[in-house]
Amino acid sequence: MSGSSFSCVVVGAGGISGAWFPPLRAEGVRVAALVDLRPEVAAAQVGKFNLEGCEVTTDLAAALKKHHPDFVVDLTVPEAHGAVTCAALKAGFHVIGEKPMAADMATARRMVRAAEKNGRMYMVSQSRRWEARHMLLRQAVAAGRIGKLTALNCDFYIGAHFGGFRDAMPSPLLLDMAIHHFDLARLFSGAAPAAVYAHEFNPHGSWYKGAPAASCIFEMNDGSVFTYRGSWCAEGCHTSWNGDWRVIGDRGTLLCEKDQLPRGQELVPGDNTPSFHRKMQDLELTPPPEMKTGMHGALLEMLEFLRTGKTPQTECHDNLHSLAMVFAAIASAKKRRRLVVNA
Ligand SMILES: NC(=O)c1ccc[n+]([C@@H]2O[C@H](COP(=O)([O-])OP(=O)(O)OC[C@H]3O[C@@H](n4cnc5c(N)ncnc54)[C@H](O)[C@@H]3O)[C@@H](O)[C@H]2O)c1
Repeated sequence: MSGSSFSCVVVGAGGISGAWFPPLRAEGVRVAALVDLRPEVAAAQVGKFNLEGCEVTTDLAAALKKHHPDFVVDLTVPEAHGAVTCAALKAGFHVIGEKPMAADMATARRMVRAAEKNGRMYMVSQSRRWEARHMLLRQAVAAGRIGKLTALNCDFYIGAHFGGFRDAMPSPLLLDMAIHHFDLARLFSGAAPAAVYAHEFNPHGSWYKGAPAASCIFEMNDGSVFTYRGSWCAEGCHTSWNGDWRVIGDRGTLLCEKDQLPRGQELVPGDNTPSFHRKMQDLELTPPPEMKTGMHGALLEMLEFLRTGKTPQTECHDNLHSLAMVFAAIASAKKRRRLVVNA
């Protein structure tokens, strides 16, 4: 343990809470209370993760009043994020919450306003940002290693048999999963989404009620194009959960596939020999230092904010742009036309 003196109240004791308790413990953050509509589920998690002295309750307001934590961790279902996070912000507490920020844009904008109005930090945990290979890819693009960015492609194909709320959602891929890939596209490109044309569909043989597959074309504000092809209903030859990426610039290409470190090729500098294919050379990319990944990486940014005031990269104003990509894609698919992306 690092022995921080911070404490938190966690709301939501479902599946994902199991990924949060180990980093909270590792960073010495005391979980003062675990709030859930299902106290028996919360009690089981308290036992499983040895959360000593952690109160189990269904009453968030009372828990905040009693424990006065340094921050709140919102791990409830997307439909509950608005109510839970706004209640915590209005009571004067910082919040780190699970993606997606909300189940609709109006609620997400209300949450951002609540953070502003109450002068509190609200950051969203986009866990897939905190991967060394993703940071390396971002740095390589930002440093101009492939020249000026022209296009990004992401392929995501997994046959996922969840058997829970996702099987019944209208847009399980776009709302619950693609938010990660869209957020990564913003991270890698450093660009903002401008417009989208999307097609959502439910493939033959699907076990989903909604549409678990989509193809989306985003125009980014730097003139580059982000193309996304994804499905949670694709049996065999799975891609990485992070998606398999091709990032193209006017001087080279980077690939990040199967959770391997990025690799790529650049034009041989100074070579102007006329030929059908230009001469290329492998890009030398320095492997990044070890880092805390996933929820642990997100948590470290919240703790750094508490210590120094440094703004986390996924604070709510920024994250609203990733969420806007999701809802613009869903709306485009419904209307069957290109739409402007509005955060
Ligand atoms: N970052 C990732 O990779 C990742 C992976 C899985 C899930 N998630 C996200 O985590 C969140 C939770 O997912 P999950 O799989 O744990 O869901 P879950 O259904 O297993 O658990 C959610 C829990 O929240 C509780 N809850 C709901 N409304 C509440 C409220 N108003 N007050 C208190 N408790 C409430 C439910 O009783 C349940 O125990 C979702 O937003 C999901 O998208 C993120």
